[in-house]
Amino acid sequence: MTSLAQSNPKACVIGWPVAHSRSPLIHRFWLEQLKIAGSYELAAVAPGDFPDFVRGLARNGFVGANVTLPHKQSAFELCDVTLPAAKRLKAVNTLWIEAGKLCGDNSDCDGFLGALDQDAPGWDQGFRTAVVLGAGGAARAIVHALQLRGMTRIFLVNRTRERAEKLAGDFKAPAEVVDFVDLPGAMAGAGLLVNTTSLGMRGQPPLIVDLAPLPPRAIVSDIVYVPLETLLVKAAKARGLRAVSGVGMLLHQAVPGFERWFGKRPHVTAELRGLVEADILAGL
Ligand code: ATR
Repeated sequence: MTSLAQSNPKACVIGWPVAHSRSPLIHRFWLEQLKIAGSYELAAVAPGDFPDFVRGLARNGFVGANVTLPHKQSAFELCDVTLPAAKRLKAVNTLWIEAGKLCGDNSDCDGFLGALDQDAPGWDQGFRTAVVLGAGGAARAIVHALQLRGMTRIFLVNRTRERAEKLAGDFKAPAEVVDFVDLPGAMAGAGLLVNTTSLGMRGQPPLIVDLAPLPPRAIVSDIVYVPLETLLVKAAKARGLRAVSGVGMLLHQAVPGFERWFGKRPHVTAELRGLVEADILAGL
């Protein structure tokens, strides 16, 4: 890996806008904790400048980068080599340079699964049906993740039905589209409900779903992390269900990139989580 050969390896997160990103906080924490003399920067890059910036990564001293909105699809198209998750999602959020080639992967699946494994151990035991709200890029990653963990039935519910149908068509079985009115029936047989929409995020309308139909052992996961505890997570806890908030996915999706660029696998500790949660609270 070229990153290990370089002294003071440097990585960044590329987005537009990017000032809100918590990635520098996460990676700088790990660099310090693991005593690695590297650095991690914010790179605000407009869509029109993205191809040149990415092609110039190595020349500008970067060993790699995270990619966030709105560049994940362009990053996929620019890569010389992509790993299976990126190919499946047609989106890249982690870039690195290997033997002069631009390589890309997508760690959103790993991030989602890592968060559930840590925050709701054994979550995938004893059921094979899940409900996913939303049909955007995050939903795509999560449907893929659920498929990897053996879910045999995934109900998709989305405001724009055609978008859900496109997603279900891309994944074929086990994804099926249901209308919002049929959500209670879908929930009744599900072990997991995941919100991948932006509903419930600060500044967005609330997500209003009656959790009563979910079985008592079901788990509720929300990828929204601002606020730290959404109304959905609060409602799940109030019903005595296990609930997983979005901050876990944010932390876990950062792990693979760090390991690639800086050569050591970092851990998502309570200390790091506390730091990021405090930063989110301070920004509210
Ligand atoms: P991401 O890549 O983060 O998933 P996205 O592709 O913009 O972002 O998807 C956002 C998701 O939130 C979509 O499922 C979107 O529904 P549509 O496909 O109908 O746009 C959903 N969403 C956003 N705002 C919504 C709202 N006000 N009501 C219902 N769903 C909403």
